[in-house]
Amino acid sequence: MSEHLRETHRRRTFAIVSHPDAGKTTLTEKLLLFGGAIQMAGSVKGRKAARHATSDWMALEKERGISVTSSVMQFPYEGHIVNLLDTPGHADFGEDTYRVLTAVDSALMVIDVAKGVEERTIKLMEVCRLRDTPIMGFINKLDREGKEPIELLDEIESVLGIQCAPITWPIGMGQRLRGVVHLVSGEVHLYEQGRNFTRQDSTIFPSIDAPGLAERIGEQMLADLRDELELVQGASHPFNKDDYLAGKQAPVFFGSAVNNFGVQPLLDFFVEHAPGPQPRATTSREIAPEEETFSGFVFKIQANMDPQHRDRVAFLRVCSGKYEAGMKSFHVRLGKEVKLANALTFMASDREIVETAYPGDVIGLHNHGTISIGDTFSAGESLAFTGIPNFAPELFRRARLRDPLKLKQLQKGLAQLSEEGATQFFRPLMSNDLILGAVGTLQFDVVAYRLKDEYSVDASFEPITISTARWVKGGTPKKLEEFREKNAMNLGLDAAGQLVYLAPSRVNLQLTMERWPELEFAATREHA
Ligand code: G4P
Repeated sequence: MSEHLRETHRRRTFAIVSHPDAGKTTLTEKLLLFGGAIQMAGSVKGRKAARHATSDWMALEKERGISVTSSVMQFPYEGHIVNLLDTPGHADFGEDTYRVLTAVDSALMVIDVAKGVEERTIKLMEVCRLRDTPIMGFINKLDREGKEPIELLDEIESVLGIQCAPITWPIGMGQRLRGVVHLVSGEVHLYEQGRNFTRQDSTIFPSIDAPGLAERIGEQMLADLRDELELVQGASHPFNKDDYLAGKQAPVFFGSAVNNFGVQPLLDFFVEHAPGPQPRATTSREIAPEEETFSGFVFKIQANMDPQHRDRVAFLRVCSGKYEAGMKSFHVRLGKEVKLANALTFMASDREIVETAYPGDVIGLHNHGTISIGDTFSAGESLAFTGIPNFAPELFRRARLRDPLKLKQLQKGLAQLSEEGATQFFRPLMSNDLILGAVGTLQFDVVAYRLKDEYSVDASFEPITISTARWVKGGTPKKLEEFREKNAMNLGLDAAGQLVYLAPSRVNLQLTMERWPELEFAATREHA
């Protein structure tokens, strides 16, 4: 097998999705621990705290109890290279999450044993279903009392519309938690205080019939377990890899992330069965990861990742070929060859310069405003990857500056933060207003906070009568000019300088569109 194929096939790129508080951060930390990416439990939270110290923006995250960033972490495990893409959990940051999900090959859904399927999980699952993304489930907080396991699987099946195949099964719950049974290997993993629950540091019986097990968990518990397993085997589906890969069946695990219990069986099963890098569609053809020429797309942009460096990073998922430091690549939208130097990878410990990256990997490119979400990089072919969603803003506010001398900084901040894709920035043709469009109201607070923190600009956002935006294109240059003159009051430019119609109402938009049938009024800006 060629090096390219070997490297490609050992990659596993996935995202963890959950309703806030189900335990995504805690589980991420434990997975990184198994990957040797961090040395000590508590490091992820520690990292959060360290960043909190350097950037008050993180204080906002803490105050609201949400995660507004998503990060990429790579770690090796059992001969595989795992790329974990974190997703923000709060509803207002949904777009970012959707785009992260376009860059993964599978997802892991964390569910709180007491709360069951929650609203965000339902939304996120809908997105996974659009692309038939294979999903595994981890039912968390087994050290607490929760719903009956069978009831939970029923709930997942009926609410999320996906078959469940339990891979581990809990023995008791809360105070009575004694362990889990691995339904595929037959092994029983005991839950014991003071253990780390790695394979080296846990008591594992080869089966429920193994001598000594009854003494450890109690005769009654074992008898109940036998009955329950019989019931489970009758009522649930056995694991079927094809169904899992087709996104029709979710293997489900039980455990307690904070205690690291039940996490290793999940990770072992994950690297064995989760899909490697999958082919990706472009407007002209499908790109297979096995192809040796380089291609990839940008699914996320983040400004000021490190406030001390004031950098903007574009996250690119490699779809085929190999990235090598310093290589030249074709930036399709600009129609230009560019040098990709100093790409970053995001190890949990710190950022490091990567020398090579393979399909499934995510690299961070330094962005000086030339890279947009959705951009394709190739080895020269005019490809455009499809399916990276772009959302039209539905809420608009005017930025109001407390110190007029800071106008330049405000413009720069709004433009740079808008590159991340969660907000869009417009300048009307006829006024000096700076208008921000967003999908959720929380984004205005975040932008105001970040403007202050990262750009030292004190600004607030006030209501304005704009109900929707449309990108105006098409027609002859003469028609377009005529349209511009007649509608200057409602026209503006976006951050990239494209013409946008800022409609005061839906009715107004409707009438304008009828009046100018030669022109196209696009609901989203074109990416490629
Ligand atoms: P999120 O990223 O999905 O939002 O969840 P996160 O991991 O931050 O976990 C949310 C809370 O649930 C945390 O408590 C965390 O410690 C707790 N938790 C995670 N896994 C388990 C588990 O297996 N059992 C129990 N009992 N709790 C769990 P917190 O009080 O919000 O934070 P902290 O002060 O404990 O860090």
